[in-house]
Amino acid sequence: MKDPKAHPTKAFRAAILHSLANPTDVGLENSYQYFEDGMLLVADGHIVNVGHAEDILPMLDASIEVVELDGKLIMPGFIDTHIHYPQTGMIAAYGDQLIDWLNNYTFPEERRFEDDDYARDVAVHFLDELARNGTTTALVFGTVHKSSVDVFFQEAEKRNLRMIAGKVLMDRNAPDDLTDTPESGYADSKALIEKWHNKGRLHYAITPRFAPTSSSEQLRLAGKLRQEYPDVYLHTHLSENPKEIEWVAELFPDSKNYLDVYDSHGLLSNRSVFAHGIHLCEQECARLAETDSAIAFCPTSNLFLGSGLFPLSKMEQSGIKVGMGTDVGAGTSFSLLQTMSEAYKVMQLQGEKLHPLKSLYQATLGGAKALSLDNDIGNLEVGKEADFVVIDLHATQLMKFRMEHAESLEDKLFVLMTLGDDRAVFDTYSYGQSVYPVNNR
Ligand code: GUN
Ligand code: ZN
Repeated sequence: MKDPKAHPTKAFRAAILHSLANPTDVGLENSYQYFEDGMLLVADGHIVNVGHAEDILPMLDASIEVVELDGKLIMPGFIDTHIHYPQTGMIAAYGDQLIDWLNNYTFPEERRFEDDDYARDVAVHFLDELARNGTTTALVFGTVHKSSVDVFFQEAEKRNLRMIAGKVLMDRNAPDDLTDTPESGYADSKALIEKWHNKGRLHYAITPRFAPTSSSEQLRLAGKLRQEYPDVYLHTHLSENPKEIEWVAELFPDSKNYLDVYDSHGLLSNRSVFAHGIHLCEQECARLAETDSAIAFCPTSNLFLGSGLFPLSKMEQSGIKVGMGTDVGAGTSFSLLQTMSEAYKVMQLQGEKLHPLKSLYQATLGGAKALSLDNDIGNLEVGKEADFVVIDLHATQLMKFRMEHAESLEDKLFVLMTLGDDRAVFDTYSYGQSVYPVNNR
């Protein structure tokens, strides 16, 4: 990556929009930067300048290639803080809520990942789909099979993506051929950490599926791994569905609440990401905030499985970091734009408005903060890694027509988030290189 000939300095000219901070903390006006005729200068995978084209152009050496993106909008790459790559082949499965959906659709599909060739094929489709949707970083579930994660990391490494993934830990309440043991889960996770964690742009997440499918002994060993590797992530599900919550109370009668199952096994930290957290009590919220743990808000999944309405404001008021997750395959779209559109509706149903600049923050810098990666990614500040997406605001006939009636930047952004999806993604760059699927061009 250090060979300057392989990665020459490149300039990208387009409108540029990125978040600088959470609008809830600094107000809308101070939360973003926008350059109508902007320029992004990229060298060696990093952003070396960003600003008005008229200011940067005179400084450019004649040898520097300028990529003219007339009429396009550059934004930071989207960050998906919760997704399952093995569920790509069963997205949009009809009729069930969480527990039945897992038994009827998810487990049968995840069994197929015993076969490495199948796993690789899905991983390639999955990574193409992320790129097609402008997602440059994701926190990803594998299956219980160690090799499912090996294969995933191999494919992510080829594209030089900043990805976090982990092998599922599951030693009970699941089909026999999909379970590990506390010891084998520990050993397999450890081997994967040694092989992949912090290799290039890759990171490992210890991944117990959720409390009902892990014994206390398995969770204890997950906690041991966390102690041995303190900068490794912890990724699991939490408080998604009322029946699930009742089940956890039966399985762990000594725990104060659902979160306490994880807490009592040493699984909470600033590297812990819990998907959903829809039905949390005050105590659980306080503990998440105290430990700087994050929640992944997954609106398309929460609606699709009928799980409930995520109380975003309550979470933020409690001081909890929140990122956005698609949760494919319970989620119904890989697109963070569509995910924000559904988030808006979830907030409408609670009598609240989710501002488009807040949505932009949630899908980019907020996600990076939730993953403790905001020193490297999340916006287009100088020094950060050059992960960005080139948006076509006129991608469909309807968007084109509607944009004519959009006056302000905020209007345009809201239309993009409400009507846009993968069709609005013109190109996706990871570490300064396009990763957009060749078969789409
Ligand atoms: N809880 C446990 N496993 C899963 C899963 O695969 N998807 C979702 N949405 N929730 C879960
Ligand atoms: Zn999930």
